[in-house]
Amino acid sequence: MLEHLARKWGRKEKQSEPAELDRSGKIPEHVAIIMDGNGRWANKRSLPRVAGHRAGMKAVKEVVKAADEIGVRYMTMYAFSTENWKRPRDEVDFLMKLPQEFLSTELDELIERGVRIRMLGSKNELPSHTLKALLEAEERTKDNSGLQLNFALNYGGRDELAKAFSVMAAQVKAGELQPEQLTEELISSYLYTSEIPDPDLLIRTSGEIRLSNFMLWQLAYTELWFTDVLWPDFTREHFYQAIVEYQGRARRYGAV
Ligand code: FPP
Repeated sequence: MLEHLARKWGRKEKQSEPAELDRSGKIPEHVAIIMDGNGRWANKRSLPRVAGHRAGMKAVKEVVKAADEIGVRYMTMYAFSTENWKRPRDEVDFLMKLPQEFLSTELDELIERGVRIRMLGSKNELPSHTLKALLEAEERTKDNSGLQLNFALNYGGRDELAKAFSVMAAQVKAGELQPEQLTEELISSYLYTSEIPDPDLLIRTSGEIRLSNFMLWQLAYTELWFTDVLWPDFTREHFYQAIVEYQGRARRYGAV
């Protein structure tokens, strides 16, 4: 099985790690990624946009493997935002099928690696087939102690905060919570990420320099790294380049 895995996940690529990457140095515990540029990647090749999303799925596999190999503990991938429903119906349908496609081909290997899958986002609006695939993956991997791979799906940072505040307001009204108990820690505990540390590093591809409603609360002190590379072209080399730059950053959290 291990041999099969090594072949499937291409262990020899380990050699492509850049010399400057300090494995004994600071490895971000949590890396979040805004995977942008699938549509432009497809346009450049005169392909339908969905071909870019399928190519993007392959990049997910490559980058998760690269992260696991250097000891990253949490990866959060922005796969579908609360605003992405505004896209053409065909594209939305395609994007909603990607999680099950990805999991049907990759879940066994991910389990062998000890990966735990989690979904972050609002489950209510998801088609049942999408939700089923994700819940099954969550259930099958719930006891795994390796890298935790979070798919932010039907996720919006403001939506997450609004939902949390609504629950807290109801609890205050019911007398279960006092207004003075609303600390930063308490608010964090009402978010999808309640059991996950904030991201240390955010990567965004495709040259766009914005957060697009992603993890607005959690990114307060995150190091940001942007690249012009379109997501389907993003490789482990690019990922390690981001890690090397992260290793050179001084994080002060507002102190001197
Ligand atoms: C943004 O690019 C990308 C998305 C909205 C979808 C991201 C999804 C994937 C990379 C695949 C997810 C994989 C799994 C396993 C669920 P865009 O379409 O906005 O690109 P553009 O800005 O060039 O048009």
